[in-house]
Amino acid sequence: MAETSSNGVVAYEVVDRIAWVKFNRPDKRNAMSPTLNRDMMEVLDALEFRDDVGVLVLSGEGAAWTAGMDLKEYFRETEADGLKGTRKAQRESYGWWRRLRWYQKPTIAMVNGWCFGGGYGPLFACDLAFAAEEAKFGLSEINWGILPGGGATKVAVELLPFRKAMYHAMMGENIDGKTAAEWGLVNEAVPLARLKDRVAEVASVLLQKNPVALKATKDAVRRVSLMSYEDAEDYLVRAQEAANSYDNEGRKEGIRQFIDEKSYKPGLGAYDLSKQQAKS
Ligand code: ACO
Repeated sequence: MAETSSNGVVAYEVVDRIAWVKFNRPDKRNAMSPTLNRDMMEVLDALEFRDDVGVLVLSGEGAAWTAGMDLKEYFRETEADGLKGTRKAQRESYGWWRRLRWYQKPTIAMVNGWCFGGGYGPLFACDLAFAAEEAKFGLSEINWGILPGGGATKVAVELLPFRKAMYHAMMGENIDGKTAAEWGLVNEAVPLARLKDRVAEVASVLLQKNPVALKATKDAVRRVSLMSYEDAEDYLVRAQEAANSYDNEGRKEGIRQFIDEKSYKPGLGAYDLSKQQAKS
C-alpha cells in the first residue's frame, strides 16, 4: 500500500482509478478502535472527490476484514470516560459508515476474512459486497453479552429474511462467505485467491458507467426502500432531474451513440464515456 492514514491504521492506494482502502490493524484483526474510526473518516474525506478515483474498495489487511468494534478501546476505555466518551465514539464510527452509505463514488466491500458485529455497518454501507468463500461472518454480540447495536440488527433485518436474521442475531454462530452470498449478505463469494481479481473486474465495469448516473442510482436504491410507490415514483423523477443539473449531456450522448452512430447497444453495455468527455 502506497499510503497510510495519520495513525497508520488505514492503508490506501489508487491504481487505475480504483481506491483500494484497507483496515490496517492486522495484529488486532482490524478491530475498529476510535483511532481507526477517525483515520477512516480522514481517508474517505481525502479520496471522495479526487478526479483519479472512480470506485472505492474496502478490504482488510491480514486474516480479517474487521473483527468488529474494538472491545477494549471502543467499549471499555470510552465507557470509562462516561456518557461523553461513549457518545463521541459512537458518533465517530456511525459517522464514517454514514459517509460511506452516501459516498459520491461507488463502493465495494471486499470481505477477505473475519467480519463481526460492528463490521456489518461498513458492510451495509458499501454499495456492493464480495466475499472470500473462506470468510466468516457473525453477529457475535450475543456471545459477549450485548445486543447487535451500531446498526447491526438493522443490517441483518434489511438484508436477511426474518427467520435467518433472528437466528443469526440470537445464536452467535458464524456463517462462511458462501452462505453469506446465499443469504444475501453479500453479492457473491469466490475463493480468496480470486477475490481481488473479481472485485477489480466489477470495479472496471462501474468505471465505464456515467458517474453522475451511478451516484443517482445508488442513492435511489437506498432511498426508495422506505417510500410508498407514489413517493418513490416522484422521487425518481426529481432525482433524475437533479442529476441532469450536474450532467445534462450524458443521456443525450448515450442515445446518440445508439440511435445515430450505432456504435453500441445499451442492452449489452455502456456508451463510450470518452466521446462525451472529449466534447466537454
Ligand atoms: N476487539 C479488541 N481486540 C480484538 C478484537 C476486538 N474485536 N478482535 C481481536 N482482537 C485482538 C485480540 O485481543 C488479540 O490481541 P493480543 O494479540 O493483544 O492478545 C489480537 O486481536 C488477535 O486476536 P486473536 O483472538 O488472538 O486472533 P484469532 O485469529 O485467534 O481469532 C477472532 C480471531 C475469531 C476474530 C477473535 O479475535 C475474536 O473472536 N475477536 C472478537 C470478535 C468479536 O466478537 N468482535 C466484536 C463484535 S460485536 C461489535 O462489534 C459491537
